[in-house]
Amino acid sequence: MLSDPILRNDWHVIGPVSLLEKTGMMSTRLLGTDLVIWRTREGRVLAWKDLCVHRGVRLSLGEIQSGDRLMCPYHGWTYDSSGQCVAIPAHPDQAPPEKARVETYFAKIERDLIWVCMGSPATLPFIPFPEWDDPTYRRILCGPYLFRAHGPRVVENFLDVGHFPFVHEHSLGTRERPEIKPYDVETSWEGITASHIRIFQPNPDGTGIGKEVEYTYRVFRPLVAYFRKESSEQGFAILLMVTPIDELVSQAWMWMLMNHSYDIPEAELRSFQDMVAGQDVPIVESQRPELLPLDLQAELHLRSDKTAIAYRMWLRQIGLTVGTA
Ligand code: FES
Ligand SMILES: [Fe+2]
Repeated sequence: MLSDPILRNDWHVIGPVSLLEKTGMMSTRLLGTDLVIWRTREGRVLAWKDLCVHRGVRLSLGEIQSGDRLMCPYHGWTYDSSGQCVAIPAHPDQAPPEKARVETYFAKIERDLIWVCMGSPATLPFIPFPEWDDPTYRRILCGPYLFRAHGPRVVENFLDVGHFPFVHEHSLGTRERPEIKPYDVETSWEGITASHIRIFQPNPDGTGIGKEVEYTYRVFRPLVAYFRKESSEQGFAILLMVTPIDELVSQAWMWMLMNHSYDIPEAELRSFQDMVAGQDVPIVESQRPELLPLDLQAELHLRSDKTAIAYRMWLRQIGLTVGTA
C-alpha cells in the first residue's frame, strides 16, 4: 500500500464508466491495493477493498444481488452498499458482527470517468478543462497506457517538448529543427502554467506543411496535467491523468479534445496517440533513478527544461513523497 498522504487524498482515474457496463463490477488496483468497483441499481458507484473479511477472497469474483448487495463467492457472505455484512448463510439466524465490514473508499463519476479517492478527499477545485464544456469539441478517450515507472516520471515526460524531434520524429518534431526558444513558466499553489512554448512540427495539421506551433501546458495535480495548442484556429487539448497502480506501475489516461477533423474516424485519432505513447513508454521506463529527483542538483537542467524544473520544485513544495526522491 502506498501511503503518501497527497496521493491518498487525491482523486485517481480508474477508467471509463463503460467498464461497468457488462457485469456492473470490475477489479482494479490503486496505490498498491486491490479494489472492487461496482455499481448499484440506482447508479451509485462504489469502490471497496477487494477482500472479503471472512477468508480474504476477492469480492470481485462474487456477484451483485438485488442490485445493491455484493455476495462473496466463497461462503456467500453478503455486504450491503455501505460495506456492512448483512448475511452469513452458514448462520442464517445470527446477525453478522459489526466488525464484518469491508474497507470502503470514495468514488465518483466525473467527465465520464470513474474516480476513486482512498483517503479523505482534499477540498480542491475540480480540475479545469475548458474545452470539455465547449460543445464544438469532440472527445476521444485514449489509453490506458501502462508504464513500469513512477507517475511523476510519466507526467514530466508529458511536459517535456525537447524530446519531440527525437522520440516523435516526423510527427511531433524533426531533428532539423530541435531548438526550444525561451518560454514562460508560472507556479502557484494551484499548480504550474507554462506558456508560449513554440516548437516546429513537420505536420501539425495533417496537411504535410511544417510550421511553428505554440503550446500552453498546465499541471493541476501531481499526476494530472494538460496542454492546448494555441497557434492554430483549430482547437486541440489533452488532459493527462496518471493513475498510480502500484509502487512502480502507472497507467495513463488521456482525454483528447478537438474541434476539427470530424471526418477522421475516432479509431484513427486514437491510434495516433497510441503510437506516440508507444514511443514514450520505453524511454520513460528506462529512466534511472526511477524516483524523480526533486533535488535540482541531481540531474542537469537547461533553460528548455524550465517546466520540468518548476514541476520538481512544486512537488517538493507540496511534499509529494511517492515516486520522488
Ligand atoms: S471468504 Fe468470503 S464468505 Fe468466506
Ligand atoms: Fe513523448
